[in-house]
Amino acid sequence: MTDNTQLAAVRARGIVKSFGTGDTQITVLKGIDLDIYLGELLLLVGESGGGKTTLLSAIAGILDINEGSIDVLGVPLSALPANKRTRFRGQTMGFIYQQFNLLPALTAAENVAVPLLIQKVGRAEALRRARVMLNRVGLGDRMDFLPKSLSGGQQQRVAIARALVNEPRLLICDEPTAALDGPNGQKIMELLREVGRSSDRCVIVVTHDSRIFHFGDRMANLTDGRITNIERIQREGSA
Ligand SMILES: Nc1ncnc2c1ncn2[C@@H]1O[C@H](COP(=O)(O)OP(=O)(O)O)[C@@H](O)[C@H]1O
Ligand SMILES: [Mg+2]
Repeated sequence: MTDNTQLAAVRARGIVKSFGTGDTQITVLKGIDLDIYLGELLLLVGESGGGKTTLLSAIAGILDINEGSIDVLGVPLSALPANKRTRFRGQTMGFIYQQFNLLPALTAAENVAVPLLIQKVGRAEALRRARVMLNRVGLGDRMDFLPKSLSGGQQQRVAIARALVNEPRLLICDEPTAALDGPNGQKIMELLREVGRSSDRCVIVVTHDSRIFHFGDRMANLTDGRITNIERIQREGSA
């Protein structure tokens, strides 16, 4: 382990999040403390409906929390006003979801360029960088295809290229392999693993899929609104 892995990319303290009011109120996150370090891939597991997606949305600053604090890369995200949070998210975070969420009318390259266009990068430069990223995920020969002409694994690789094109320091993935078969899921995880190895970035992956657990550095378990345990994942050469 290098010193860099000790730098917290995410520092969450005492997060409480409830939905609804009165009799129908449910408290989904009941006091979450969690550090995620640069240079690691953290797996987040736990029962369905347990609050994993809610926690990711809180870390991303998409969702307001009731109590607690979240710092991302040393910035007190949960204390920022919404517009600053949005800008910070666009500059520092990338997202990959279970359903690839590609825009059906745009080509692969155009889909990947979208986050850059939102950041006001010019169209030609955005497409150039999108093509570089598509090459890197092995889709150099699919740049101008529409999503419907791509396989599930290829669509998810487009989604990964889109998430990485901003060079985000924090990559947030919600069940990224759930819609893929085993071999495609493994390929996606190899890509995410590579991002997580870089010393100034980190990756958080929510998953149910035990076939990909070995790609993680640590695994956190979210049960009944709390992180019940965090374990380091042993692999060859890491003991
Ligand atoms: N916007 C919302 N409004 C009300 N309840 C919600 C909302 N989002 C999530 N929930 C509830 O919070 C709980 C946790 O959901 P979620 O974070 O999606 O769980 P997981 O991702 O672990 O399956 C569920 O009971 C869900 O119904
Ligand atoms: Mg979920």
